[in-house]
Amino acid sequence: LAQDNVFKIGLVLPMTGQQATTGRQIEAAARLWMAQNGDTVAGKKVQLIVKDDTSLPDQTRRLAQELVVNEKVNVLAGMGITPSALAVAPIATQSKTPLVVMAAATSSITEASPYIVRTSFTLPQVSVAMADWSPKNGIKSVVTLVTDYGPGLDAEKYFSERFLFNGGKVLEKLRVPLRNPDFAPFLQKVRDLKPDALFVFVPSGAGAAVMKQFGERGMDKAGIRLIGTGDVTDDDQLNDMGDVALGVVTSHHYSAFHPSPANKKFVADFMKANKNLRPNFMAMGGYDGMRVIYEALKKTGGKGGGDALVAAMKGQIFESPRGPVFIDAQTRDIVQNVYLRKVEKKDGQLYNVEFDVIKDVKDPGKSKQ
Ligand code: DHB
Repeated sequence: LAQDNVFKIGLVLPMTGQQATTGRQIEAAARLWMAQNGDTVAGKKVQLIVKDDTSLPDQTRRLAQELVVNEKVNVLAGMGITPSALAVAPIATQSKTPLVVMAAATSSITEASPYIVRTSFTLPQVSVAMADWSPKNGIKSVVTLVTDYGPGLDAEKYFSERFLFNGGKVLEKLRVPLRNPDFAPFLQKVRDLKPDALFVFVPSGAGAAVMKQFGERGMDKAGIRLIGTGDVTDDDQLNDMGDVALGVVTSHHYSAFHPSPANKKFVADFMKANKNLRPNFMAMGGYDGMRVIYEALKKTGGKGGGDALVAAMKGQIFESPRGPVFIDAQTRDIVQNVYLRKVEKKDGQLYNVEFDVIKDVKDPGKSKQ
């Protein structure tokens, strides 16, 4: 095929290392989208090129540069963690290549380049709901525990400010490193402070370790509840977390247990194609990211380059397996429902079961709205 008839998507993801589950989930979701929707769009053959950045931002930058210069990709996508997305933003701007952020969730990312469009979520977007729910449900004092980088700092700030506003007390704000975190000394400190609840943000893949140590230290038996954003009860790991996870309440934009027909089909198809792997919120960001790219390609017929594609991504509205979503034309960020969920056993398996919804939530973190 002539280069003209090919549409290349450069998907840069952590396929190995600490964030490997994010890469595995997003690649599987992107391939599922293509299996369901075909690989010919507007007369062009869509080609997915997957590169492993091992979640090191210098690698993400180098791979994105190669994809743009050598492969001449039409779109860059993926971005497992915030530092990766920020490292690639200047490349997107200089080369006028759309960058579809499918995972990274620090609020400010979309402001780093006018070519960035996000299909994941933001931490401010999901954290505020938890700070509204908890004081109404017997939680008057908390300690926050977050991973010490962009999304953790967003979660800490937006949860704490709203929790204080609602009359709650934040006894201490603890931060753990992104690389090789040891949660034990932090959890010991929480035990000594005896808050009503511990609010946690850790990135996808780290939740099981937090949950295990929370149980081993008898925190739940000492009467300390665990709450957080849904990253800590990640569907990729939840079913193996054991009974310590039962009853944990989180706020997030996606649960594999979301009861819509579109989601039931998505989960069934994903599990069938991936040896029963349950899709998590990362898969959801990848799947909808592919939809946004396909729709933009359809609309533009592949003409007009990166600027036309970004313009065609802005303002898209569609019914996702997670619920209704909207790509805000002004911010290029996703507007979506945020759900309150509780971990329950259903048919012998652990799920985040949604019990309340805040509809059409915009990212509250944008400096200009
Ligand atoms: C980010 C990474 C995650 O795994 C997650 O769950 C949320 C945010 C990030 O680096 O932006």
